[in-house]
Amino acid sequence: MGKIDILSIAKEAQIHKQKDSTVVDATIGMFYDDEKKLIINDVKEAYYNIDLFETFKYGATDGGNLFVNNAIDWVLSNKKEMIQSKYKLTGLATPGGSGALSVIFNSYGHVNDKVLVSNLRWRYEYFTSAAKKLIHEHNMFLGDAFDLASFEKELAYLCRIQETVIVVINDPCQNPTGYQLSESEWKKIVSILNKFNNNHIILVYDLAYFDYDPRGYEEARRTFEYFMSLAPHTEVLISFSASKSFAMYGVRLGGLIGLHHNESQYNYFEKNAYEDALGKWSTAPSVGVNIFNQLVNKKDSYLVTLNRLTNTLKVRGDIFIKEAKEANLAIYPYRGGFFVLVKSEKPVLDFEKLKEQGIYLIPMDEGLRIALCGITTDEVYGLAKRIKTIINKM
Ligand SMILES: Cc1ncc(COP(=O)(O)O)c(C=O)c1O
Repeated sequence: MGKIDILSIAKEAQIHKQKDSTVVDATIGMFYDDEKKLIINDVKEAYYNIDLFETFKYGATDGGNLFVNNAIDWVLSNKKEMIQSKYKLTGLATPGGSGALSVIFNSYGHVNDKVLVSNLRWRYEYFTSAAKKLIHEHNMFLGDAFDLASFEKELAYLCRIQETVIVVINDPCQNPTGYQLSESEWKKIVSILNKFNNNHIILVYDLAYFDYDPRGYEEARRTFEYFMSLAPHTEVLISFSASKSFAMYGVRLGGLIGLHHNESQYNYFEKNAYEDALGKWSTAPSVGVNIFNQLVNKKDSYLVTLNRLTNTLKVRGDIFIKEAKEANLAIYPYRGGFFVLVKSEKPVLDFEKLKEQGIYLIPMDEGLRIALCGITTDEVYGLAKRIKTIINKM
């Protein structure tokens, strides 16, 4: 399958739903609560409280010290001290997690380098091709577990043909499967990365959905403990999405946080990532920076809200998984988050059949992605069975 345009399928679904309220629009990665509300009250309040002068004047390229410190505090939380005892940290405000990914692919490695990604993934190829880099896949699953052997084999191949290797890991609540690496899988990934010490490895840790981890806010940050065993040839560059964590998708705010082992890695980031941002958007998106800085100040009350949203999503996931099992609908391993991926050998054909019956999903190479984030709990009931019946029809 070529590149898929999720936004245009979503538009089609929205138009159909306006005419027919029974349409199920499970296309796009935006969280709606069960009252079909997208905007979170705490975020709306912060928006109306923004300091107009601070927002309308030119801001700083990196978002300013306050933003950088707040982003580090939010993302690392109670793991911050531990991480700071090993790494020198950098931070940069970006237009969404997308901006962070774009800066990474442009600032690290060389033209025509291959970037290691899993075969089931979000659309990273848009960012790699804009940075004149290529995609190289490893297999994501072996049975119901992460395919560590394939990961190691493909990494070893890239380490033979390139000096710098960028590796992308999207976890937890992976898009499109909702998979979550276990502690032992993360530890093995770290020990595999540690083997290739003749290379420079950039581990892109895309944690766009970590604030919806069903284990909760602090547990979602356990992963940072595993980075304490990384050898100096692997730098971690974290792509954070305020779009997801604060349901402010169109505001375009994200962050890039770097964990560097030494001065030279730190200086490289400070020069190259910063200059790439200067050459792309010049200064950080001030509206988002201002909203974010306020919300981090009220973290405790926002965490209560976030917990409520995560629970709603967990309920939807539990219903869907239970009913999929009952209906014998094959899905990839799901642990939590915005999306579930239904297995399909003919995703485009199945997509068309479902569309005819008013169910809009996203066709991908290996299946159909369901955005549980975008439908109500009521709409989840019975959905697995309907999908199974429709795609089974000749
Ligand atoms: C896996 C993943 N990473 C990053 C992003 C970036 O989102 P944004 O640029 O809105 O922060 C998305 C958005 O859908 C995503 O699914």
